[in-house]
Amino acid sequence: MTSLLQKLSEHVGQAFAAQGLDSAFGRVMVSDRPDLAQFQCNGAMNAAKAAKKNPREVAGAIVESLSAQDIFTQVSIAGPGFINLNISDAYLAAHHAPQGHDPREGVPLFAQGETAILDYGGPNIAKAMHVGHLRAAIIGDSVRRIMTFAGYKTLGDVHMGDWGTHMGMLIGDYMRRGETDIVTQTNINDAESVQALMEDMAIRYPKAAGEAKADPALMQEAQENTVKLQDKAEPYYSLWQMIRRVSVVGMKRNYDALGVHFDLWKGEADVHDYIAPMVEDLKGKGIAELSDGAVVVPVAMPDDKKEMPPMILYKRDGAVMYGTTDMATLVERMKLYQPSKIVYIVDQRQNLHFEQLFRAARKAQIVPGAVELTHAGFGTMNGTDGKPFKTREGGVMRLEDLIDITIEKARARMAEAHVAEDFDATERDDVAHKVAIAAIKFADLQNARQADYVFDLDRLSRFEGKTGPYLLYQAVRIKSLLRRAEKSIDFNASLILDEPDRPLALLLAEFPEAVEAALKNYAPHYLCEYAFRLAQTFSSFYGNCHILSETNIDIRNSRLALCAMTCRQMDIVLSLLGIDIPERM
Ligand code: ARG
Repeated sequence: MTSLLQKLSEHVGQAFAAQGLDSAFGRVMVSDRPDLAQFQCNGAMNAAKAAKKNPREVAGAIVESLSAQDIFTQVSIAGPGFINLNISDAYLAAHHAPQGHDPREGVPLFAQGETAILDYGGPNIAKAMHVGHLRAAIIGDSVRRIMTFAGYKTLGDVHMGDWGTHMGMLIGDYMRRGETDIVTQTNINDAESVQALMEDMAIRYPKAAGEAKADPALMQEAQENTVKLQDKAEPYYSLWQMIRRVSVVGMKRNYDALGVHFDLWKGEADVHDYIAPMVEDLKGKGIAELSDGAVVVPVAMPDDKKEMPPMILYKRDGAVMYGTTDMATLVERMKLYQPSKIVYIVDQRQNLHFEQLFRAARKAQIVPGAVELTHAGFGTMNGTDGKPFKTREGGVMRLEDLIDITIEKARARMAEAHVAEDFDATERDDVAHKVAIAAIKFADLQNARQADYVFDLDRLSRFEGKTGPYLLYQAVRIKSLLRRAEKSIDFNASLILDEPDRPLALLLAEFPEAVEAALKNYAPHYLCEYAFRLAQTFSSFYGNCHILSETNIDIRNSRLALCAMTCRQMDIVLSLLGIDIPERM
């Protein structure tokens, strides 16, 4: 299916071609001055430069040939050679006609089932999940949904941190204090027992880590424990297995509350058996080398502007590093899944790590050039003081607590706005949860991925403004309108567009480009922007038009068809953002 912008670009491109100019110059965009025109084409300037002609003359010839076509109701030149365009309502209505039944709302398939692996979890076992894990989960899950919709076979991998020195510290602490029973006697099928171990680890780990950092002997011991664990020696390995199983229960609880899904529950430890053969192979090929007792892959290149340290595969004590497991994970991913893309949605402060990893993986030919490797980094979530988000006491806030306080806030906002007031408690709880998650996710996703943003609970929970709750409210409003009209909607109605319908009809045609921009840039904020404009444009349409009360049946049908399209796009776009819409509010 061809989008409106593509169709217009074709028409304008033909006008360029008729002047002997490259049709690519005819690319049409939505106007950045909607007060002057609906669309614009900026190609005349470059076309003139290429043909060594005067830009206004080139634009003039294009305008003349376009004016003769009845698609356009206005064609004019602005400034040095911008071409401003308005299209006829009939053309716009005809464009939307086939969309009447299209569940994809005109969005083409951008892929044919190629596999894409998305890495957006990264919680470390034995530690309580905290707000630092929020952005990866929210953005990553949205990217997964967008890519699935675009036609990829997606695999979201939680890739937990379960194989590092922190494990040696924690296990060592249980052993040194003779308290391994706390771990071994845990009953994984008993929620209370699982919770008890989780709480124990949450307190014990930071203490043990603090002690190890202060005492070189303890640190040494922790590192030795880690090597033993990585050799799968007992009792280290059994203790670790229980710690990991219990941690996964806690992670799933957090991710479920957020509505974030993973297809693969793998961790760094799962690739351990790939490491030794991989390192041997790389040594044999001369790609890995010994340096100061460690085994490293040099990744610096002659024109590097910044220092590029080698990637360490084995430390001097034989322990493996973060990069080693990531590299071995690439070996496994290529072998098991043959992906065409691997995308890491990870804090952008890990940029250097991924640069090293990607260079090493290319050099070692673990990942061939045709397979895309991307670090889709994100910025920091700050508090209202502009510093990284903390609890009032200055500590790191647990993810569960953040979700809880947001749900509480959602309840208060709902009461203020008389939302879901007369529902029974179960349904009101469900709405409060959905409002809270919408608030958290939309506040995060609306920012450009790389930008830092401020988590301002007061603002993001409001039913007015650019918020998740506002979007839910509008989405529910459209749904309820359509429910009231249900029996009388004619999905084959042709659109009859006029002044009050036009802005909505024009915006609805921009949907494919919004999805494409989000897909190409791993950037859900394009969809947030679109959703917000859709909600606002719908809201003024609703205010300016008679819909159910319209007496002209053809116009009524046309308006209901626009409402149905809006509803479908809202459904799609919110589901791509991972936001659930309540049935009613
Ligand atoms: N566990 C890591 C951390 O806490 C994040 C893992 C991200 N994914 C990856 N494949 N490196 O920083």
